[in-house]
Amino acid sequence: MIKVIKVKDYEEASDKAFEVMKPFLVPGKVLGLATGSTPLGLYARMVKDHEENGTSYKDICSFNLDEYAGLPIEHPESYYSFMHRNLFDKIDIREENAHVPSGLGEDLEGQAKKYDAMIDACPVDIQLLGIGSDGHIAFNEPGTPFDSGTHVTDLAESTIKDNCRFFDNDISKVPTQAVTQGIGTIMKAKNILLIATGANKAQAVKDMIEGPVDVACPASILQKHENVTVIVDEAAASLLK
Ligand code: GLP
Repeated sequence: MIKVIKVKDYEEASDKAFEVMKPFLVPGKVLGLATGSTPLGLYARMVKDHEENGTSYKDICSFNLDEYAGLPIEHPESYYSFMHRNLFDKIDIREENAHVPSGLGEDLEGQAKKYDAMIDACPVDIQLLGIGSDGHIAFNEPGTPFDSGTHVTDLAESTIKDNCRFFDNDISKVPTQAVTQGIGTIMKAKNILLIATGANKAQAVKDMIEGPVDVACPASILQKHENVTVIVDEAAASLLK
């Protein structure tokens, strides 16, 4: 079941997301984390809470959703760098507990299977998600089977265009493949929190919540999960009935 929380704008969405996340910021919890511009406000609030209230991540473990394939981790736009810059380096999570899938190596599919095995051993308590303008979650593009595990994927043309802004607006610099948790992996999380803001997400939000459960909109599978909270701002909610 999807519980929809409508808020005014990005700032309110980030406040609300922090409220939902807060009970999970305690020792022993496993967080599923996401990249993209959407979670930045939430991460800033988590950092502030760590600094001001001493909330500790020493006994918290995290698993990120995805990583570009073939991009060196020191590249500023690798999801490894993104997570360190925006969250991990500003809180006290242990490096060995903060997992980001690797997009480098000889055997990406083999590594992906090991990533799933690690998640199975430490089930995710709350998975944070953004949504792509084409309805993708993590890098599960339209057409991805709902039972997929972590895997290597080609990025959709629209996703490459959307992410161009992070690569000097030069489409030739955007990686064309990624390693991503599968939809089946994501669905194993006990709770899911998806944040969507901005008008360019409105159609994807409508398809996710009101459309049929269909691989054409990967996020529509969330209708089948027991415990999903979707936070939408006015612009992203504009097409909802
Ligand atoms: C990328 C990520 C997704 C993210 C999406 C939306 O494709 N792999 O996890 O949800 O972008 O990004 P943004 O939050 O910047 O709109």
